[in-house]
Order: sequence, then C-alpha cells, then structure tokens
Amino acid sequence: IDLKSLNTMGLSVSARFFAEVHSLEELQAALQWARLQQVAVFPLGGGSNVVLAGDYDGLVILIRIIGRQVLKVNEESNQILVKTGAGENWHQLVRWTLQQNAYGLENLSLIPGCVGAAPIQNIGAYGVEIKDVFHSLEGLDIQTGQIVVMGAEECSFGYRDSVFKGECLDRFIITSVTFALSREFQPCLGYGHLQKEVLKAAGTDAVTGRLVSDTICRIREEKLPDPEMVGNAGSFFKNPVINEQLYQELSSREPDLVAYPAGEGLWKLAAGWLIDRCGFRGLAQDNGAGVYEHQALVLVNRGGASGRDILELAENIKQAVLERFQVELEMEPRTY
Ligand code: FAD
Ligand code: EPU
Repeated sequence: IDLKSLNTMGLSVSARFFAEVHSLEELQAALQWARLQQVAVFPLGGGSNVVLAGDYDGLVILIRIIGRQVLKVNEESNQILVKTGAGENWHQLVRWTLQQNAYGLENLSLIPGCVGAAPIQNIGAYGVEIKDVFHSLEGLDIQTGQIVVMGAEECSFGYRDSVFKGECLDRFIITSVTFALSREFQPCLGYGHLQKEVLKAAGTDAVTGRLVSDTICRIREEKLPDPEMVGNAGSFFKNPVINEQLYQELSSREPDLVAYPAGEGLWKLAAGWLIDRCGFRGLAQDNGAGVYEHQALVLVNRGGASGRDILELAENIKQAVLERFQVELEMEPRTY
C-alpha cells in the first residue's frame, strides 16, 4: 500500500506488508506473523516524525490502540494518573486532560502524532517535555511478544532523546503511556514570550490551563505549517549544543546569535536561526522540496518531492551550516 496519506511529509512510498491494529491481541498476532515470515516491523503512529526515503520491505503496523482512563487520584498530593492507548491522537489527549481538570500537558498542545510515539523522542515544546509528567509505559517486545513495563528512569529521557533511539532502538512497540498529572494548575510560562502572550490573551480574567493551551495553539499556527496544507515533519534538525569556546567565538562574530545556556559550559543554539542566516528560509526548489518561509528549521514538501529530494536538501543545509558556523546539525525525524 502507498503510505502517502500516512505521513505528514506526504511522501509516496509503498510498504510490502501492512496491518492496522486496534488491540494488544491484534498487535501480538501481527508481531507473531512477522516473526514467522522473518520480516522487519515498522510501527507507525501519525507519521509526523519520519522521512520515508524508499519502499519499506517489511511490515508496517499502524498503531490504533485507543482508550483514555483516569487510573488514580491521590487526594493528598493532588496527583492524577492518566493511562492512554498508544493510538490516541496526542492533541486530543491534551484537550481531554484539561477537561478532566488534569494539568501538565497544556504546553504540549497541537503537537501532531500519537501518544505511543511521544516517549520515543521525549516530545517537548514551550518549556515542557513529556519526561516532566511521565509515569510509565507498557509495550511489547518485538522479538518475544512479551509485555514490558518501563518507568521514567529506564527510558533515559534527554532532549529529543530516549532509550528507544539508542540501546532499545526497534526493540519495543509502545502500547500505552501513563502520565502523572496534577489537579492543581501551575502555569509554566518561562519560555520566550509565552508569559506575555498568555497575559495579553487573559486580559482581566484568570490564567487557566485551557487559555495556555489556546495561546500555544495560536502561536504554533503562526509559526509552523499545517501538514494538511504543506507537507512537513516539524523541526527537521535538533537544536545543537556547543561548548563555551565555540560559543564565545560565534557570539563575538555574530552579535545576534540565538543561544540558551544548556548546563555547565554548554550552549544550545537555535538551529532555525543558523539555517535562516545561511539564506535557506523560504527556499522553493523545482522538485518540491523547500524550507518554510516563517521557520527555517522546517523543511517542507510543497508537492511532488521524494524523500531523497528532502534528504538531499537537508544535506546541503547541513553542509552550509557546518562551513559557516562549524556546527554539525543532527536530524530529528527518523529516515526509513
Ligand atoms: P511517527 O512519525 O508515526 O513515528 C515516529 C517514530 O516513532 C518512528 O520511528 C516510529 O517507528 C516510532 N513509533 C511510533 N509509534 C510507536 C509505538 N507505538 N511504539 C514504538 N515506536 C513507535 N515534536 C516535538 O517534540 N515538539 C514539537 O513541538 C513538535 N512539533 C511538530 C510540529 C509539526 C507541524 C510536525 C509535523 C511535527 C512536530 N513534532 C514535534 C514531531 C512529531 O510530531 C513528534 O515527534 C510526534 O511524537 C511523532 O508522533 P507520530 O505518531 O506521528 O510518530
Ligand atoms: N529563528 C530564526 N529564524 C528562523 C527560525 C527561528 O531566527 O527561521 C529564531 C527565532 O527568532 C527564535 C529562535 O530561533 O529566537 C527559536 O525559534 P522557535 O521559538 O521557533 O523554536 P525552535 O528552537 O526553532 C523548538 C523545537 C520545536 C518546539 C519549539 C517551541 C527543536 C528542534 N524544536 O523550535 O519543536 O515546538 O521549540 O518549544 O527543539 C519539533 O521538535 O518538531 C518542534 C517543532
């Protein structure tokens, strides 16, 4: 089947085998089949963080295991545990938690994709990452079919990183994620101009979780392309972390360099700024590959581009940034 409608870049490739699963049992059956046939397995959620560069010679499993459940409320600590099936839409989960008066996910509003992929790169936005509210997850071992339960420590979350991108790459399929949320709303507004925007939107009214979520949706709609309109996978590169020496060198050369302190002697640079400075913002190649006009960190498929066209453009961007700033960019979405 053609995966074009199942990835937000709108890349047309085919999968040799395809299954859509709605329960643990269906997933177990699909995995058993793949083991017998000795074919590789590719779990797919919303397809919003992948670059499909060629036909997939294995079994694509579309994870559509749904369900949302308040597991437990701790009256003393005000903690509320919410368990969610891996196939639930992320943004709909965020909005549903707010309806339940469960707080902690509001800054992660409007991130595309499904719940099951959220731990893979420890999704983050506007000063919050899922590791901040993560309780545990359940999954299946692809090789043995066994159920596994993992806590935050075992997931080794980092900036756009987890054990699932390293040691446990391609080992598990996540089937549910449990979040530890709060019944008390504590706004987290330290990121950039977020506080200013939220207070402006609130006027004389109180700041609520719903208002923070709405404000973030509005900011994101201004900055990021809607995949329904223009194919994209969000930020195409991670924001690179550099040492003090290089930071001093670059900031004396480039007075408006965008950098944030990232721990002892380390600085995180805005990759979008670096790419913008190299002149790529707004690029529209004949083959359809390009760079979004309002955010140079977002590579786009304006129609007809192949995964290879996108990767070739990404390589040119990496090269230009390396030559000009001596900084190596690392891709954020995974290539298949
Ligand atoms: P997919 O693209 O389907 O899969 C991504 C990877 O996870 C693949 O390797 C896949 O095999 C694996 N995977 C998927 N489901 C499972 C599962 N159940 N078990 C095991 N492995 C699985 N990300 C951020 O962190 N912050 C942002 O602010 C942000 N903004 C974005 C904005 C736009 C417009 C877009 C298009 C993307 C953005 N992203 C952002 C990236 C993306 O939305 C997230 O990484 C999201 O979590 C991906 O979910 P998905 O279901 O689409 O994953
Ligand atoms: N900038 C430019 N030119 C550009 C783009 C950005 O100068 O073309 C500058 C901006 O002016 C700003 C800075 O770069 O000063 C940072 O830009 P922005 O606030 O848009 O955030 P970002 O660092 O580009 C990161 C995440 C996003 C996340 C936002 C909000 C990464 C790789 N990206 O983007 O995550 O939504 O912060 O928290 O960390 C994603 O991972 O897919 C993603 C969209």
